[in-house]
Amino acid sequence: MKQFISTQDIDSVPKLVQIAKYFKASPHGKEHLGKNKTLGLLFFNSSLRTRLSTQKAAQNLGMNVLVMNVDEEGWKIEFDEGAVMNQGEQEHLQEAAAVLSQYCDFIGVRSFASLTDREADYEEKILRGFIRYAKKPVFSMESATRHPLQSLADVLTVEENKTVEKPKVVLSWAPHPLPLPQAVANSFLEWMKQTDCELVVTNPEGFDLSEEFTEGLEIVHDQCEALKNADFVYAKNWSSFENYGATTDAFSDWTIDSRKMALTNRARFMHCLPVRRNVVVTDEVLNSEHSLVIEQANNRTFAAQAVLYKFLQDG
Ligand code: CP
Repeated sequence: MKQFISTQDIDSVPKLVQIAKYFKASPHGKEHLGKNKTLGLLFFNSSLRTRLSTQKAAQNLGMNVLVMNVDEEGWKIEFDEGAVMNQGEQEHLQEAAAVLSQYCDFIGVRSFASLTDREADYEEKILRGFIRYAKKPVFSMESATRHPLQSLADVLTVEENKTVEKPKVVLSWAPHPLPLPQAVANSFLEWMKQTDCELVVTNPEGFDLSEEFTEGLEIVHDQCEALKNADFVYAKNWSSFENYGATTDAFSDWTIDSRKMALTNRARFMHCLPVRRNVVVTDEVLNSEHSLVIEQANNRTFAAQAVLYKFLQDG
C-alpha cells in the first residue's frame, strides 16, 4: 500500500475489517513488525481520538512515533508551487515533506477542509501536496473530503453489532452551531457502500452531499420517514456542499432524540465524536445502552493498526 486516503487504496474493505478484528483480539500479535520504524503524525487541526488511537496502534506494532501540531508548533507552510514567499509563510511544502521523509518511514496528515474554496478542498490540495513531495507513504488522518480511519472503525462497529445480515443504516444530518466539513459523512458513505447494507441518507433541502458520494443512494428530506425501521442511526452535521461551507440555525428539530429513535428498529446510535450534547443528540440517547460512540472510538485503534500493518507488510 503506497498511500491510504480512500477505499481506492485498498484491495477490499471486508478484508481490512478482518485485519482490524484480528488486532482487536490480539493487539500485540505483531508487536515486532514495526521495530526500528518511525511513524510521523502531522496535525494541522485539533484531535483527541485520531492522535491517541494512531499513536497507540503504532506502539502496539512496536513503532516509534513522532507527533507535531504543525499549526501551533511548526513554521507556517506554503503549499502553492511557484509562490513568491514574501508573506507570512516561512517554509515550503516541498522542503517540509522531503525533510520529514528523512525522519519517518510513514507519514500521517490531518488537514481539514477550508470550507471557503470548494475546488481546492475537493482536489485535496494539502494531502495530495504531501503525497507528491514526501518520499514515504502518506495516509490521511482526516482530510478535506474524507476520514478513512474513522470510516474503517465505523464499518467494524456496524459489523460487530448488526443483528441482521443486511441492516438498514441511516446517515442523518444533525444541527450544529458552526460550519463543519463533509469529510466524515462522505467517507462513511464511501465505506458503507462496500458492505452489505441498506444505506439511506437524510438531510434538509440544501444540504445534499456531493453526488460523488451519494450516487446510487436514496436521499430522504423527511428525517422521520428515513429513520423508520433503521438498525443503525449515524448522526453527523455537515455544512452545505451546494452553498459551500454555509451553515444554518434552522432545522434545530433535526436533533436525534428518543422520540426519533423510537421510530427505528431499536437502532444503535453512532457518532464519530466529539459531539455537542443536546444539539446533535440528546443526553438520553447518548447515555442509553443503544449508543455505540465509545465502542467506535475504541475501534479507532484497531482500524489504525490494520492500516499501519498493511504499510509495514508492503514495506
Ligand atoms: N473522530 C475523530 O476523528 O476525533 P478527533 O477529531 O478527536 O480525532
